[in-house]
Amino acid sequence: MKEAKKDELAKARKEVEKLTAELEHHNYQYYVMDDPEVTDAGYDKLFKRLQKLEAEHPELVHAHSPTQRVGAKPLDQFQKYRHGVPMLSLANAFNDEELVAFDERVRKFIDVKASGGELEYFAELKFDGLSINLVYENGLLVNGATRGDGEVGEDVTENIRTIRTIPLKLKTKKPPAKIEIRGEIILTVKAFESLNRDQANNGEKTFANPRNAAAGSLRQLNPRITAKRPLEGFFYGVGEVQGYELPATIAEFEDELKSWGLPVGRWRKICKGAKDVLKFYHEIETIREDLPFEIDGVVVKLNSFAAQSAAGFVSRAPRGMIAFKYPPKKVVTLIEDIQVQVGRTGALTPVAIVTPVSVGGVIVKRATLHNQDEIDRKDIRIGDQVVIQRAGDVIPEVVEVLKDKRRGDERKFFIPDVCPVCGSPVIKPEGEAVARCSGRNCVAKLRERVKHFVQKDALNVEGLGDKIVDQLVDGGLVKRLHDLFDLTFDDLMGLEGFAEKSSHKLLNSIEGARTPELYRLIFGLGIRHAGEATAKLIAQKFKSFKKIVHASEEDFLEIDGLGVEMAKSLVEYFHDEQTEEELEELLHKIHPVEPKASTHSQIFAGKTFVLTGTLPTMSRGDAEKLIEDRGGKVSSSVSKKTDFVLAGADAGSKLDKANDLGVKVIAEDEFLKMVK
Ligand code: IVH
Repeated sequence: MKEAKKDELAKARKEVEKLTAELEHHNYQYYVMDDPEVTDAGYDKLFKRLQKLEAEHPELVHAHSPTQRVGAKPLDQFQKYRHGVPMLSLANAFNDEELVAFDERVRKFIDVKASGGELEYFAELKFDGLSINLVYENGLLVNGATRGDGEVGEDVTENIRTIRTIPLKLKTKKPPAKIEIRGEIILTVKAFESLNRDQANNGEKTFANPRNAAAGSLRQLNPRITAKRPLEGFFYGVGEVQGYELPATIAEFEDELKSWGLPVGRWRKICKGAKDVLKFYHEIETIREDLPFEIDGVVVKLNSFAAQSAAGFVSRAPRGMIAFKYPPKKVVTLIEDIQVQVGRTGALTPVAIVTPVSVGGVIVKRATLHNQDEIDRKDIRIGDQVVIQRAGDVIPEVVEVLKDKRRGDERKFFIPDVCPVCGSPVIKPEGEAVARCSGRNCVAKLRERVKHFVQKDALNVEGLGDKIVDQLVDGGLVKRLHDLFDLTFDDLMGLEGFAEKSSHKLLNSIEGARTPELYRLIFGLGIRHAGEATAKLIAQKFKSFKKIVHASEEDFLEIDGLGVEMAKSLVEYFHDEQTEEELEELLHKIHPVEPKASTHSQIFAGKTFVLTGTLPTMSRGDAEKLIEDRGGKVSSSVSKKTDFVLAGADAGSKLDKANDLGVKVIAEDEFLKMVK
């Protein structure tokens, strides 16, 4: 009896394995190849047989069974996943010249003679989706995570499993022990449109573009909802690998991915030099609108992995790759009205209210007209048909007026003489394009100033969004910046949408913002022309808020990279009586953290070094100090995360490992050149 049971189980196991392989094969043929070999009914029959066997023998159910793609229960929240190798970003090129300049930069790092005078690039589409990291261990899909901040992403494994084009098991007899595979999750334009129709019919919110729809679908806590969205993935990259030797080139690696059953892009080309790349880029441009999914450019990569390592990194981007972007999309619409917005510095910006249109998948209702000079120069009138364009996430703008479409009833527009919000006179200094509200207490200005002050790059008050700021200012609770720090529990409870928990939470984040780094405070004040980079320079030079407040134009001009206009703007700001009063109050509430003295520029910030062997002139301690004083880190062992190995005489296994991993190895003289 026992023997008979064993036999039956062994037989069932064999059949489960066979059915699993068959179903995955049909999945691949249907979803990836678009070339099914069986009818839907035929597929269902196999699927049901597998379900039955698994129900009879629960011990035979595997995570990679086709029946397990949609099973998981909703989550409360996503777990974090730390990528084995960080997911970096790419530098951009926006035109042919910038692409040629990229090629020239890279050529300095590679021996071009070896490849016949031209570098070999691999060019492919830049899919406009969401980057993803898949982990396969011994051929089985064990994790899928979003990019997150590049180091740590969100574990969306259960959602990834619902994507039919992603194999749960790699089609290979010899899978790597472990491999991180990088790619992009997208929705086709068709799927996006159909999803939006369904959403609208069900009274749910619609998505602005396929990318947002893909992101919203992948970041669903309930995998059963994700399963209903026809997400797809394209794969192109690699992170951590164990027990696997990468082929020499990206082209070969993608072939390998394809043979494993992972979808890769169809439009790709191995290019010799920049000329070939330009040709590919312009060819794709002509078919861009006909592609089934959205792309925002092509990605150009040194084809050889060894060459990529040799080219190294700039900030957090590989020097040997670039995103070669296409110009933004344009459409024609009608200007129904022109309104005026009042900004943080009182600047009045005319905004065109247009008949809503989709520009590259995003519904556009407004377009900026910048200022009166721009309106006059382009002769923009209410009632005009215009061409608007959208570049990335920025507010669309009018690029052209279709004057031959005019019917004669279009109306000219002029910026008003008084502020539309507070009624104060509007002033436009001679020679400046921007008209400003002169009201000291204009509510519109205050709202924008507060939003700027609390934003992520400034005081970073989490949970204090634009709508809440509007309520605080309009309700008279915040009349000056420092009023934020006097807000009480009861004040917040009185606001729309606030309950006990949210009120406490916001009070806590306000509390946490009382000790900002000095540059954040300077940036947050919203001084005209002073962006984050300038704020950092100022903080680094003066190191104390008091000194900054009392600095003269000449003092500011001592900073490299800070011009006359900026210096004037700073002095004008700090020497204004009302500002002085306001800052004094503010400094009773918050205490900026002043930067520590460092006499060296932080050229090695974020870089990790490993030292090995005996250097010709420097002691190890001296070298370490040089690195650390400049913001770098010294580590004792070489890994993929090492940026440089500084090697001297009799270097041992660390040097071998660096060469194996393609980590850049430098000698003392090169190191000293970097330091200089
Ligand atoms: S290679 C170091 N190839 O574009 C990152 N990226 O702008 C190497 N992307 O984060 C990425 N299509 O999410 C690469 N064919 C492609 C791509 C692609 C889309 C995304 C990716 C990356 C972003 C960078």
